[in-house]
Amino acid sequence: MIVAIDGSAASGKGTLAKRLATHLGLSHLDTGALYRAVGLQLLKAGQDSKNINENQCVKSCVELDIALTTSPLIRSEKVAEMASIVAAMPAVRAALLDLQRQFAATPPDPKGAILDGRDIGTVVLPHADFKFFIDANICTRAERRTKELLQAGQSVMFRDVLTDMQERDSRDRFRSVAPLRPADDAISIDTSSMDADDVLALALSYITP
Ligand code: CDP
Repeated sequence: MIVAIDGSAASGKGTLAKRLATHLGLSHLDTGALYRAVGLQLLKAGQDSKNINENQCVKSCVELDIALTTSPLIRSEKVAEMASIVAAMPAVRAALLDLQRQFAATPPDPKGAILDGRDIGTVVLPHADFKFFIDANICTRAERRTKELLQAGQSVMFRDVLTDMQERDSRDRFRSVAPLRPADDAISIDTSSMDADDVLALALSYITP
């Protein structure tokens, strides 16, 4: 079984993906972590988000240190910004495509895979068995992200998180390649007034074995 989950920042798509993976025995790939790891690697190499070189970004994808995808350092707002800037580059997306498709084709768990991101149902896995599109209103999402970052020990303010998220949303939705949008056959869930259990139960109600 292949499940594709797309959605906006802090919409709850990652939480849903993890919980569905556990519930259904599927292998999970957080594709945002790949873009964030590329962003972190570039920042570590001294690249500046305002003046970034596309060849350097592709090189960073090819030489990606996969261990960075699990580093807590990828969870900062600075890395999120860099990730969304490099993610708008067609050559970067192309460089990360095979890795994502290969994971879905040969997941560690033979029961299947669940991938979450921005373009999984539209570009990476257009033939997925189930597709979800997760969204919530921007204030709720910014509140959730502020809470997460504070809990992780980062010092952030709601106002700044909201502004960063608005910029990132607009970059992700209006870029020319693989913009954030629901696939035509995706099930949309607005999580603004739902908790993680409600979202899991609703998603499971659409999944037939
Ligand atoms: O955790 P959050 O939802 O804030 O972001 P993420 O899923 O970790 O993704 C970080 C950034 O990577 C996004 O803002 C996108 O620009 C980019 N991304 C993408 O373009 N395509 C994907 N499949 C996943 C992430």
